[in-house]
Amino acid sequence: MSNAPLVDLSVHHKPVDFSDRIALGFTKMLRFCADTFFAKRYGHRAIVLETVAAVPGMVGATINHLKALRRMQDDKGWIRTLMEEAENERMHLMTFIEVAKPTLFERFVILAVQWVFYLAFFALYLISAKTAHRVVGYFEEEAVISYTHYLAEIDEGRSPNVPAPAIARHYWKLPDSATLRDVVLVVRADEAHHRDVNHGFANEIGGQPVDAAKIAPYPVHADELDIAA
Ligand SMILES: [Fe+2]
Ligand SMILES: [Fe+2]
Repeated sequence: MSNAPLVDLSVHHKPVDFSDRIALGFTKMLRFCADTFFAKRYGHRAIVLETVAAVPGMVGATINHLKALRRMQDDKGWIRTLMEEAENERMHLMTFIEVAKPTLFERFVILAVQWVFYLAFFALYLISAKTAHRVVGYFEEEAVISYTHYLAEIDEGRSPNVPAPAIARHYWKLPDSATLRDVVLVVRADEAHHRDVNHGFANEIGGQPVDAAKIAPYPVHADELDIAA
């Protein structure tokens, strides 16, 4: 029933230089922390990690915006793409908050992590925008894997396949009969798109080839985010 674009689960950018290896190592370390902290609590995992996932797009957009102003040059559409990514990740958060409720401790973790991650990612982007986009590309590879595990949990009956929240049906233009499984499918397709876009940006900065035809298709989203509109 879902009209989510197909996702190529095998995509992995093989590290080609030191910056790529740093980005991959950092991502694997965070993956280990997330696996230890959340185990199979996928709803909670989604909420906490989406509060982090929505940061890089806004940081990248801000820094590219300031750069375009300083240098008085075109941004090649990067600013809008990154702002769209931030908005999309925020909608993931707004969706999963309807599915699971963060514990008090998780709310504290979100607060602490936001301080550290925002500042660290901002600094990283200033030092090496290529590494910053590579980090996001690897984060998104992991997000695709996590949402694939979440799908398996639903399919095998360990997570209830509840009706899709109204905000998700509106944002992804899903039918009234849509379920959590349909939502996870379109969220995973969003993550695959961000994965390929960010690896592409890192490649472009690093002078490596970019194959625009290989970017995973982006699901259809509502223009108006206000559900009451
Ligand atoms: Fe996300
Ligand atoms: Fe993401």
